Amino acid sequence: MKFITRSSNISKLSEDAVVIGAFSGHKGTLSLSADAEQLHAQGVFANTLALGDFTGELGKHVILPGPKNKGRVVLVGLGVADKFDAKAYKKATQTALGALASTQTSDVVFTLHKLAVPGLDNAAKSRIAAVAAHEACYRFDLTKSKKEPSPKLTSIAFTAEGTAAKEVLNGAEQGNAVGEGISFAKTLGNLPPNICTPSYLAMEAKKLAKTYKLEVEVLDKKQCEALKMGSFLAVAQGSAQAPKFIVLKYNGAPKTQAPVVLVGKGITFDSGGISLKPGEAMDEMKYDMCGAASVLGTFRAIAQLKPKLNLIGIIPACENMPSGSAIKPGDIVTTLSGLTVEILNTDAEGRLILNDALTYSRRFKPAAVVDIATLTGACVIALGGVHSGLFSKSDALATELLQAGAAASDTAWRMPLDDEYQEGLKSNFADMPNIASRAAGSVTAACFLSRYTEGLEWAHLDIAGTAWKQGTAKGATGRPVGLLTQFLLNRADK
Ligand code: BES
Ligand code: MN
Ligand code: ZN
Repeated sequence: MKFITRSSNISKLSEDAVVIGAFSGHKGTLSLSADAEQLHAQGVFANTLALGDFTGELGKHVILPGPKNKGRVVLVGLGVADKFDAKAYKKATQTALGALASTQTSDVVFTLHKLAVPGLDNAAKSRIAAVAAHEACYRFDLTKSKKEPSPKLTSIAFTAEGTAAKEVLNGAEQGNAVGEGISFAKTLGNLPPNICTPSYLAMEAKKLAKTYKLEVEVLDKKQCEALKMGSFLAVAQGSAQAPKFIVLKYNGAPKTQAPVVLVGKGITFDSGGISLKPGEAMDEMKYDMCGAASVLGTFRAIAQLKPKLNLIGIIPACENMPSGSAIKPGDIVTTLSGLTVEILNTDAEGRLILNDALTYSRRFKPAAVVDIATLTGACVIALGGVHSGLFSKSDALATELLQAGAAASDTAWRMPLDDEYQEGLKSNFADMPNIASRAAGSVTAACFLSRYTEGLEWAHLDIAGTAWKQGTAKGATGRPVGLLTQFLLNRADK
C-alpha cells in the first residue's frame, strides 16, 4: 500500500475515488463537511440530498459518481458533529475504505483527517486511516482452491499541505507498518493448526529475521531439556509435533540499553490435553497461538520503522494434546525457575509454558517484560471482545500500556492483581497448583504468572476475548499488534 499527500483542491479528480464526510443534523438533516462543499458546488450531491435517504448516520455510506461523472465519491456518515470522537473517526474511516475495497478503485483521495477529532493529531488520524486501509484489504484465501479477486486498492492520497503534510505522512508510515504487522498476525492466526505448527512458527520467525536483519535463535527440545524447562516441555510431551522455543532480537539502540521483552503464548492447538475440552468450537483453539502471532506482527512493524530501542521476543511454541505420553492431572513438574507445579488441570497449559519463558527473559536484564496470551475463558466472560485484559503490579507500566492502547484504538482494561487473589494457589504436594477455584479465573492465572516475575517490571495481557472473532466473521483480529507497536514507539529514543 502506498500513502502520499496531495493538494486540498478536490474539485478536479484524477484519482478513482474521493472519501468525503457528512454530519447528521439534529433533525435528520445533513450537514456537509468543508471538503464536501467543493463537490457540492458541482452538483455531485444534488440528487442524494433531494432524496433525503442518506442522513449522515455513523457507519452508513453512499457511493456516487464524481464531478463530471468521473470516478467515485464515497459520502460517509460521521454522525452528530458534537459526538465526533476518535471512535467515530475510526468507524467512518473503516466504513469508507471497507466500501471502496469491494469496488474497482485502486487510488483514492482521503479527506476525513481534515476534520477535528478530540485527542487525535494529524499523525494519529493518518495512522488510523492507514491501518484501516490494510484491514479493509485483508483477505484470507490461502487454504481455498477458488480465490476471489483481491481488492485493487493500492494508493491513498491524503489532502494536506506544508507541515501538516509531513505529520500526515509520518503517521501514515507508522500505520502502514502496523497494518502489515496486523495482517501478518491475522494470517498466522487464521492458518489451520495442521499447517501452523510450532515448526511453522519457527520458520516464519527465521524468515522475518532474514528479511529484516534481526537475530533469531530457535531452541529445540534437547536444548530446552538442557536448560531444564520442565514446565514448557511437560505441555509439549503429549504431542507428535516438536516444541520450538523461539527467541528474536531487534537491536535499535546501544547494547548498554536494557531491552523490552515481549513473550507470546504459542500453543498452536489447545485440545485441553487429558483434561479434554468439549467439542463445541474446539477448532477455535487453533487461535491459541495469537499471542505469539502478535509478537511476530509487532516485530515486523518495529523492524520496518526502526525505532531507537532494543527489543526481544520470546515464543514458547507447542501443541497441547492428549496421548499416552501426555501430562496427567496430578503430575508435578519442575519449572526453569526451580519452583514445582502440581498440574491439576492439563487445560491450564498457557501458564505452564509462559512461566519458563518469563524466567528465561531474566537473562536479558529487561527494562520491561510484557506477555501476551489467549490465557483464560474467564477473561472472555469478564471483558468480551472490546478490551484486552491488562494485569500489572506496576502502575507506571500499566499506564503506558493503557495509553498506547487508547492511542492505537486497540484498547486494554486494567484488571486487579491484589495479593488476596493468590490465596487459592496452594498445593499439598508442590510449590503451587496450576489452577485455583473458578472464581476470578483470569486473575488467578495472572497471579500464577506473577510468581515467576518477582523483581521484574512486568505486565500480562490476556487477549482471549480480543484475538479473534467468532461466528460468520470468524477470523483473527491481529490484536494487540497496534497497542504493542505504539507502546514501543512511545518508549523509543526520539
Ligand atoms: N486457551 C485457553 C483459554 C481460552 C479458552 C481462550 C476459550 C479463549 C477461549 C486456555 O488454555 C484454557 O484452556 N484455560 C482454561 C483454564 C482453566 C482450566 C483454569 C479456561 O479458561 O477454561
Ligand atoms: Mn487450555
Ligand atoms: Zn490455551
